Amino acid sequence: MIPESFIQDVLARADIVDLIDKYVTLKKAGANYMACCPFHNEKTPSFTVSPSKQFYHCFGCGAHGTAIGFLMEYRGMGFVDAVRELAASMGMQVPESHAQQGGAEHGSRLRRLSERMSEAQAFYKAALKKSERAASYLKNRGLSGETAARFGMGYAPEGWQALQAVFADYASPEMLATGLVIDSENGRRYDRFRDRVMFPIINAKGEVIGFGGRVLDRGEPKYLNSPETPLFEKGRELFGLPQARQALRDENCAIVVEGYMDVVTLAQHGVGNAVATLGTATTPTHVQKLLRQVDRVVFCFDGDAAGRKAASRALDNALETLADNKTIAFAFLPEPEDPDSFIRKTGKDAFSRLIAQATPLSDFLLRELSTHCDLTTSEGKARLVAEAKPLLLRIPVPLLRLQLVKRLAEASGFSQTEVERLCGIRGYTPPAPPKAARHAPSLARALLRLVLQKPELATQIPLAQLPASPERQMLETIARAVTHLPPAPSYAQLREQLRGDAQERALDNLASEWMDMKLEDVDVENEFHAAVTRLKTAAQDAEFKRLQAQAQQFGGMSGLNEEEKERFRHLAHRNSKKAAT
Ligand code: UTP
Ligand code: MN
Repeated sequence: MIPESFIQDVLARADIVDLIDKYVTLKKAGANYMACCPFHNEKTPSFTVSPSKQFYHCFGCGAHGTAIGFLMEYRGMGFVDAVRELAASMGMQVPESHAQQGGAEHGSRLRRLSERMSEAQAFYKAALKKSERAASYLKNRGLSGETAARFGMGYAPEGWQALQAVFADYASPEMLATGLVIDSENGRRYDRFRDRVMFPIINAKGEVIGFGGRVLDRGEPKYLNSPETPLFEKGRELFGLPQARQALRDENCAIVVEGYMDVVTLAQHGVGNAVATLGTATTPTHVQKLLRQVDRVVFCFDGDAAGRKAASRALDNALETLADNKTIAFAFLPEPEDPDSFIRKTGKDAFSRLIAQATPLSDFLLRELSTHCDLTTSEGKARLVAEAKPLLLRIPVPLLRLQLVKRLAEASGFSQTEVERLCGIRGYTPPAPPKAARHAPSLARALLRLVLQKPELATQIPLAQLPASPERQMLETIARAVTHLPPAPSYAQLREQLRGDAQERALDNLASEWMDMKLEDVDVENEFHAAVTRLKTAAQDAEFKRLQAQAQQFGGMSGLNEEEKERFRHLAHRNSKKAAT
């Protein structure tokens, strides 16, 4: 949506040191800046920011990325929002691409919608202060005023058109678009939320995008939610996410619960890292959003049949998002408790234990599968493997798949290879440890190291002369990417150009490894030209040897065609000159 060239402009102008320094105090250390890592708990700094690469890397937890990546990780923003934010911080405005004509109008319409939402929230908050009944409802449920304020809770008063007092244009079509009002069949407009305790739903930018409202007494429905609007897409949003940000970072773990009250009560009891889906099943987007911020997600659903069903759907939606360095687990509460009632009865420690001891995804998956299969019979065992197959194939990461294959083998009595064959997956061979390659730094590696300092050099390498290797592939990718970039791009610009590329992770690994390196530009150029010369020489030596062998095999120069003869003489001449000097 945002033009590629604009993203590159933003990165060219942004300074990652300035940006990160707004959130984390940085100290100069040699060519780089250091701080205690904001993404994990540590006492001695291992978080490094490189001004020359415009890249950050933590040697403790491995977090790394560009200025855009930092905003995504630290603020929990999506890519587009992160670009906008970074641009705005430098006074640049995102141009709207042709595909989005009228995009600016759309943007300001969204802004007007979200202004209305926050006006409504202010009104609901004030109404809570005035309503004895609503305040005592919350008090009876054990909530403090502090907690209510932390979540910006409010009260929608009784009466059909209370919001008329807030919005002069109550009857306008724009008002309808907020979802705060409803038009009846005979054309009468009235407030959607009446006599309900209000939970605002807030996005990563801190904007109110929707509400959930709970009846005070009995009444149907118990919870009423905002409809989907241009601001609010239920499958993407989580209640409590902005309030949980610090705790998510401290715990490196997110707890997903079912209800608004669960999130709020947990926070009040010191469990700040809980978020809730909004009356919908957990979607892959939800899980992805969380896994961007933490390494562990624990689903903690109610201890009833509906809760178990929700867990099983969450499992299904989490499979594709799995990564080997992330864990997903499931905590089950004793029936009929929900997280809210459970923590009030048993306290924080018991709840935290439950989360720490949650069932790992692989165990839960196996348990779910086994419920359909009688594992005492061989038919049942075969069925287990057959049912596991489609699920296994959806798991994108080899280590976890392997773990599951092993468990399936145990449970079914088939051997591991048989399970792999039956499920149509190839056996997993762990990659050679990167250390091995480090002993003899290849020419390709040396070139790569220099190219990360100065990406535009990639286009000057005679790539065809490099032997095939992952490094050469990476150089090819970079050379291709550079043609789309402005002249003299920084590493960060290259990095964003390759966002989503298959080589993304390998590239990050290299950049982190060489984080400490800072050569003067002249040195980079000199080293680079020396390396290219070595490459050309090596290629010529190899060619000479090949021609020589061919000639010998056919008893002399007659084994070569005219062109080859010419090449051979040329190379021989070069060699004799080299020997003479
Ligand atoms: P629950 O029925 O489990 O309610 O719904 P709860 O969270 O325990 O709430 P309290 O403790 O009775 O106040 C869980 C979630 O499902 C959605 C809401 O998001 C709610 O928080 N829900 C439930 C609805 O959207 N509508 C409903 O009528 C009920
Ligand atoms: Mn409840």
